[in-house]
Amino acid sequence: MTPDEFTRASGADRPGHEVTGSREDPHAQARAARAQPLLLHSMSLFRELFETIFAHREIATVVEVGVESGQVSSVYADLGATVHCVEPAPGDELRAVLAEDPRLNLVEGLSPAVLGELPAADLYVLDGDHNYAVVREELAWIMANAPDAVVAMHDVLWPCGRRDFYYQPSPLAPGDAHPATTDGPTVWHDDLTPAGFVGDGVFTAAVDAGGPRNGVLTAVEDALADDGAAGGWRFAIVPAVFGFGVLMRTSAPGAEQIFDALRPLTSSNLLAALENNRIALYTRVLQLQYEAAARTDDADRLTETVNRQQQEIVDLRAELDRAKAENATRRQELDRLRGASVPQRVREPELSEAVTHLGRALSARIRKPPGSAR
Ligand SMILES: C[S@@+](CC[C@H](N)C(=O)[O-])C[C@H]1O[C@@H](n2cnc3c(N)ncnc32)[C@H](O)[C@@H]1O
Repeated sequence: MTPDEFTRASGADRPGHEVTGSREDPHAQARAARAQPLLLHSMSLFRELFETIFAHREIATVVEVGVESGQVSSVYADLGATVHCVEPAPGDELRAVLAEDPRLNLVEGLSPAVLGELPAADLYVLDGDHNYAVVREELAWIMANAPDAVVAMHDVLWPCGRRDFYYQPSPLAPGDAHPATTDGPTVWHDDLTPAGFVGDGVFTAAVDAGGPRNGVLTAVEDALADDGAAGGWRFAIVPAVFGFGVLMRTSAPGAEQIFDALRPLTSSNLLAALENNRIALYTRVLQLQYEAAARTDDADRLTETVNRQQQEIVDLRAELDRAKAENATRRQELDRLRGASVPQRVREPELSEAVTHLGRALSARIRKPPGSAR
């Protein structure tokens, strides 16, 4: 479409319509925005990056590590590959999705242990257990056994870049894992918090970030320094959706073209700024949700207290009414007894006068100075 044709085209005919909307459909962009999940996290968003990789490199076999719902697996198949989908505990839904498509093969197991059982792949997509020990082993295996492969990696930036995350139950030996917690990171301070990016029982996070053998990006750096140094491996990051890494030997087929084609994205400060803004906004939303839930809990507790106290008031009123009624009955009984008794020796007014008199006499007595006549 020429620029003139683009300007003349209107409504849904215009390319990028869902981005720009149009005069006839001004809400198209907002519709597209609200159709997205609030947290974008799936590698399915990297479709155009995979298109670039497939455009410059013949890829017949893909090993996809970490499949979850299976929503990305068909992307590789649609681009022409047979896919081995590695997932340790696939649910029924994932089984059904993969069973429907003969190009997708479910591999029920843990990476890196299963890698050696699979055909060598042209593309490895690593998005399984996001910690140093697992990723370092995965890279060591690939570099040794499939040195011409393209390795696409997810979560090489915050929050997993410099901090291990452990899917639960973790198969790692205690010595391979850092002390971990169910609290999660936020970008608003450096400590973990229950109001942060938490795993809700699915994963835990290392208590401390940084240091040696911690995080996915640290694993890549060590792999490059140790195993990759001799082979001329190169690594680049597209700073979007938690970080998309591409690792290849520079001599591998298509490597130069792939890195060149990705350069506008791998070198984009704009993209990096948007990603930082995204994680800042998202973790602020998490914090607000956490605070709102805590306030709801407070309000619920307060409502329970008010209800309990109202019931206590009702009970006390009933008790008071009972006591009043009992008192009235006793008074009546007293009056009846008084009426029935022989004439009172001292009438009540006389008694009260006597008490007043006695009081006055006592006061006068008290006011007299000591030693005065009695
Ligand atoms: C972040 S999800 C994958 C998301 C998927 N790639 C996507 O983009 O939609 C990570 C998945 O890796 C799986 N997983 C955890 N440890 C693994 C391991 N050692 N090997 C393979 N998969 C693993 C988890 O069960 C989870 O489903």
